[in-house]
Amino acid sequence: MAANKKRERNLIAYTGAAAVAAVAINLIVSAVNAHREKLKKKKGLAGTNVRINLSASEIKRLADDIIAKSKEVYDSVASVPLEKVTYMNVIAPLAELEAYQFPLVQSCLFPKKVSPLEDVRKASSDAEIRLDSFFLMCRKREDVYRVIKAFVEKGEWLGPEAKQYIQCLVRDYERNGINLTLSKRKELEYLRSRLDNLSAQYIQNLNEDNSFLLLGDHELAGMPPEFIKSLEKTESAKLKVHLRNHHVSPILEHCKVGATRKLVAVAYNQRRGKENLVVLDSLIQLRHKFARLLGYSNYADFVIEPRMAKNSAKVFEFLEDISASVTGLANIELSMLKDLKRIEEGDSPFGMEDLLYYMKRAEERHLNLDLGEVKQYFPFNLVLSGIFKIFQDLFGLRFEEISNAEVWHGTVCLYSILDFSTSELLGYLYLDMFSREGKYTHTCILPLQNGCLSGGTRQIPVAILISQCPKPIDQNPVLLRFSEVVSLCHEFTHVVHHICNQATFARFSGLRIEADFSEIPSQLLENWCYEGGCLKMMSGFHQDITKSITSEMCRALKRRRDMFSGLKLKQEILFCLIDQIIHSSEDVDIVELLKDLHPKVMLGIPLLEGTNPASCFPRYVVGCEAICYSYLWSEAFAADIFASKFKDDLQNQTAGLQLRNKVLAPGGAKDPLEILRNYLGREPSIDSFIDSKTRNSW
Ligand SMILES: *[C@@H]1O[C@H](CO)[C@@H](O)[C@H](O)[C@H]1NC(C)=O
Ligand SMILES: *[C@@H]1O[C@H](CO)[C@@H](O)[C@H](O)[C@H]1NC(C)=O
Ligand SMILES: *[C@@H]1O[C@H](CO)[C@@H](O)[C@H](O)[C@H]1NC(C)=O
Ligand SMILES: *[C@@H]1O[C@H](CO)[C@@H](O)[C@H](O)[C@H]1NC(C)=O
Ligand SMILES: [Zn+2]
Repeated sequence: MAANKKRERNLIAYTGAAAVAAVAINLIVSAVNAHREKLKKKKGLAGTNVRINLSASEIKRLADDIIAKSKEVYDSVASVPLEKVTYMNVIAPLAELEAYQFPLVQSCLFPKKVSPLEDVRKASSDAEIRLDSFFLMCRKREDVYRVIKAFVEKGEWLGPEAKQYIQCLVRDYERNGINLTLSKRKELEYLRSRLDNLSAQYIQNLNEDNSFLLLGDHELAGMPPEFIKSLEKTESAKLKVHLRNHHVSPILEHCKVGATRKLVAVAYNQRRGKENLVVLDSLIQLRHKFARLLGYSNYADFVIEPRMAKNSAKVFEFLEDISASVTGLANIELSMLKDLKRIEEGDSPFGMEDLLYYMKRAEERHLNLDLGEVKQYFPFNLVLSGIFKIFQDLFGLRFEEISNAEVWHGTVCLYSILDFSTSELLGYLYLDMFSREGKYTHTCILPLQNGCLSGGTRQIPVAILISQCPKPIDQNPVLLRFSEVVSLCHEFTHVVHHICNQATFARFSGLRIEADFSEIPSQLLENWCYEGGCLKMMSGFHQDITKSITSEMCRALKRRRDMFSGLKLKQEILFCLIDQIIHSSEDVDIVELLKDLHPKVMLGIPLLEGTNPASCFPRYVVGCEAICYSYLWSEAFAADIFASKFKDDLQNQTAGLQLRNKVLAPGGAKDPLEILRNYLGREPSIDSFIDSKTRNSW
């Protein structure tokens, strides 16, 4: 399920303020400069427009300022007579505003996630609501759109990046329905509001679900004593199992009683199913309606158009190719699990409730790996310095901590990131790694300022990496689980993608690229966590850091990742297919679809009886609709890069620098496919991915 978690995280990083501010356009250059003078004396990060540790009233004032200044520029661009439009009076002020205003917007918004002061979080959250609704209005400004369109029609010569930028501008407006008739725009608005409300309702239904099962001791045979102890006991001596992930997962992995696993799995996959199936059906219908109003044949095509995959047909082709290629492997894996079940439970049929349980048993048999022991080798500071070292060597960078920097909490650190050979300052990174009261509870990256040219000088990228490591107690080092090490490496790559950006326009930041492309570098770098040499750089036994992790452990970690990759892929593909089918076809009966597709993809294993599709894949339904494939897609192309550039030498700086210059530096300024072609020297392919999955059978 790591895949799902990642999806959720990325969603957080790329939506919200970043997306919102991107739509905001305009501010005349002179207005910008005047403003800049005024801000100089206030608290901020030197050489940037980022403002740190603002008070509640400062946030409110800044938000007011942003709105007033933006409106001023908007009005001014809109007032350019259509026959007088030029790059300098239409496009330049829009690009300049976006560059300049984004860090100010983010300065208002990030405190909501991290400030230790409640009034500041509240002010930040209020500012978000106001800025959101202001930018929403901006997106509807037909007068501005008309002027941009007039500039496009004039056909003035433009460099490729400016051309791409203007295409993005126009597309953003048109995907919002700007050129529809008034009555159709009203309908679109209505649909959007309905969709928002239904999505919120769907999530709320699930969040409010407090259902549980009462089970006896014997029904929980095989569960670790600490787990049993953690459960609430009722008067009748039954144990209360909540239908939440932290109870359900351990039971599906460890409970010896097949009937219990089935009971729990079915109940979990029925949570709020009755209400939410109705909501889901409406959501899908309305999404199609929305897409058709905008001239697309279905919702999936609408969503995928700006992405690397381009259309839904390409996604189907991709999913089916991979599915077919791993069927043989998945069958071998399944028969092995069936054998295990026969030994332990006799000849009962193999069901979905058995999958996790027997995978775990196989892991215990074939791997000599204790994750609790592995954790002893990953003190946070060592992992961090290891990651710094790896990224520095690979990409030709230097990370330097800035002491006494202005921050919002004592545990936050600021780093400057420089080019190793020229010492040019490339960007800044704030690390806010430890959990505390009132702080956002997920890992995410927030861009604070985007790299671009602004007023003739280079504006450097700034980002915050927010995480949730347990806070250090006394002198004891914070130890990371292996999955947290991988995740840190993954997120760090997003940071480097952002920092190494060399695009001209702020719009093309590495954190604003569509997920089916932007995840490629991050998934690529995850591979570094499975190779002995790199793992040793990131590890050391916490009581004696000269003792690094053993080679046996490293090998076992890699084997663990590769075990059952056929079955895991099939499961992922099932979800991606369902998501793609319901968002690309008319009137699908989703219950029947799942019943029918499940055994076809899952090698004959039927859908758990009574399972409701609306509860089975909640994350995909809201927030990831029609783009579930993104994760797998980018994993596949990451595997291509890994196999052709790094497999034999993970620290190959030539290949690393090329990756930095050809793939990371352009950000979103070039077509993703062109970027990959240019780096690989050929068409990208999914063959290496399939190879890596099928070859690794153990
Ligand atoms: C309206 O927008 C669509 C894309 O959404 C575009 O194909 C079409 O050319 C636009 N029409 C006009 C009149 O600009
Ligand atoms: C969505 O919810 C808001 C707030 O509850 C309400 O004002 C609005 O009318 C709803 N929109 C639709 C289309 O139902
Ligand atoms: C942030 O600003 C507040 C006053 O608004 C101040 O009390 C606090 O010490 C500052 N925090 C840091 C870490 O500088
Ligand atoms: C390092 O990468 C470059 C560029 O991809 C390649 O030409 C070279 O052979 C690689 N070196 C090693 C040792 O793999
Ligand atoms: Zn990611």
